[in-house]
Amino acid sequence: MIASEHYDGYCQKALTEDLPNVAYLFFTLSRSERIHAVNYQKIIRSLDSSLEKREISISFSNTKTNLNTAAIKELEKIKNYYPQVLNRLSAEAHDLAVINCMYSWKSHQQHEEMIRDIKKYSGFFFKHLVKKIDDMNPDYFLCEICGSIESEKPTSPCEICNYPTSHYKQVERPPVKTT
Ligand SMILES: [Fe+2]
Repeated sequence: MIASEHYDGYCQKALTEDLPNVAYLFFTLSRSERIHAVNYQKIIRSLDSSLEKREISISFSNTKTNLNTAAIKELEKIKNYYPQVLNRLSAEAHDLAVINCMYSWKSHQQHEEMIRDIKKYSGFFFKHLVKKIDDMNPDYFLCEICGSIESEKPTSPCEICNYPTSHYKQVERPPVKTT
């Protein structure tokens, strides 16, 4: 949920900087993170544990910095965070927890190349990066089971969770907050 809230903030900031396609990318990432969070909430509840309510403090900067921060955090999750969590979970052999953690890890890995490009170009080549994202002008499709993101409508089952294409929903463009 923390990642989702951050991406929502980054999205709104990108909209104020008139970067609608970067905003759409952040918005889609936020929705993907939310799917992961809801999946984990369901598992925690099934274990009869109560969920702790936590205040989430969000910090964000300009889009140039936000893109760089997001890329660094994504790469950290791929390389260290998820392998460590999976390692801890496997000791308890709770299948659903392991499967959902695999979904999260793989859906982050899915865009590793793009994330590396963003990290590479978000400094000096920021304008080039924004143009590249703008030129893609994609419609994003999100798997509601595992959070997988595709930039074209999938024609075969989800490459991560293997559920049918009917579980992919097109992500609407982000609404502009008026307050
Ligand atoms: Fe999926």
